[in-house]
Amino acid sequence: MTQHSFKSQFIDRLQAAITEGTLVRLNLGSPTGRDRSLRNLFIRPVRLRGQLHLSFVYRHATRDVTKNHLPADGVTLISELLGDEFADAFLSATTGTAHLNLRKGRQPKLELGPAEDTAAPDLDHDHQKTRTVRTQGNPWLQDLGVTGPDEKVRPGMEAKYRQIHRFIEIVSPLLRDARLPNDRPVSVVDMGCGKGYLTFALHEHLKRALPHHARVQGIEQRVELADAANRVASNHQLDSLQFLTGTIGSTILQPTDVVVALHACDTATDDALAKGIEANARLIVVAPCCHREVAGQLVAPPVLADALRHGILFQREADFVTDALRACLLESAGYEARVFEFISPEHTAKNLMISAVRRDVPQPVRVAAREKATALAAFYGIRQQRLARLLGVNLEP
Ligand SMILES: C[S@@+](CC[C@H](N)C(=O)[O-])C[C@H]1O[C@@H](n2cnc3c(N)ncnc32)[C@H](O)[C@@H]1O
Repeated sequence: MTQHSFKSQFIDRLQAAITEGTLVRLNLGSPTGRDRSLRNLFIRPVRLRGQLHLSFVYRHATRDVTKNHLPADGVTLISELLGDEFADAFLSATTGTAHLNLRKGRQPKLELGPAEDTAAPDLDHDHQKTRTVRTQGNPWLQDLGVTGPDEKVRPGMEAKYRQIHRFIEIVSPLLRDARLPNDRPVSVVDMGCGKGYLTFALHEHLKRALPHHARVQGIEQRVELADAANRVASNHQLDSLQFLTGTIGSTILQPTDVVVALHACDTATDDALAKGIEANARLIVVAPCCHREVAGQLVAPPVLADALRHGILFQREADFVTDALRACLLESAGYEARVFEFISPEHTAKNLMISAVRRDVPQPVRVAAREKATALAAFYGIRQQRLARLLGVNLEP
């Protein structure tokens, strides 16, 4: 078959999905056009002023551009773009998937597959909602005990659902900022994943946000948790999601695009950060838990001694110093680090998040970050910090 006939079959399927109301999303990738900053085009149905439209999100290296078209115009445009601007298209409808590959030098291909998204798209959901994990159509949420058979959040699980929601809301722009590759499946590891609430949520989000299916792995030291999470993944045929039993420190990571560690205990966060750096991850996201290592060494500088008599202030200072050191050390390793609030402190005191995006950081900037880390440690009498040790940064004066 020729490229032309594969393309027209694909367009027919798209047209049918639009007419039957089964279209969930269409992702175009592998750009071939003249605009070198263009990475992807994400298309989904939306209802605007009561009328069905196709929302086109053009993802460029540093920005997104959204345009809405009536379905007929949209389909014409897609047909023009296929082959000229993008060589790869993935269509997801509630009836099945279709993957068109028109890459140069390869045999044109149209692969049909079973449905990945079983819920009909909610056309009234705006942009914001694509950043959330819907309670409907995600049956794994039921298996994890977050929702009940009515697909509503179960009493007592509201905070967990809010946390999941917030995590995806935060991670979504970070993933974009990290400029993940779009010509192959992205690999993601969630370290210290526990029951896997956030791992499942991330897997689900990436399915919608990326052109290729991401491979997501959870690492958890408690075998019963990893086993239970694997059962849920396999019950729902989530083949690209897998849970392994093991400790973060002993995990050998292949090159990985995204490393996440949320509320991994004490220095397990440092182990995860070091693993992410070692794996050359483009994005690392951690939400630190307790900070015992530094608290055990911290000597209050004279000017702060009085304030730090108070246990809670001392603890907060230890948390602050640990996370400030982590941010400096990430910068010394070539990452742009940001520290911000994860969820409102009313839900948990462990509400801080550190994100790190790999950048081309010049060597002098890295050296300066390392010097800042050693100066900060010296100010508080800290001689040992796990991440510093793992990165070979000597904090001893
Ligand atoms: C507080 S739970 C957080 C779970 C999940 N990340 C979340 O935020 O919902 C921390 C989990 O990390 C696991 N954990 C702690 N240290 C670990 C280590 N060094 N290696 C692997 N798992 C670890 C614990 O067993 C626990 O399940």
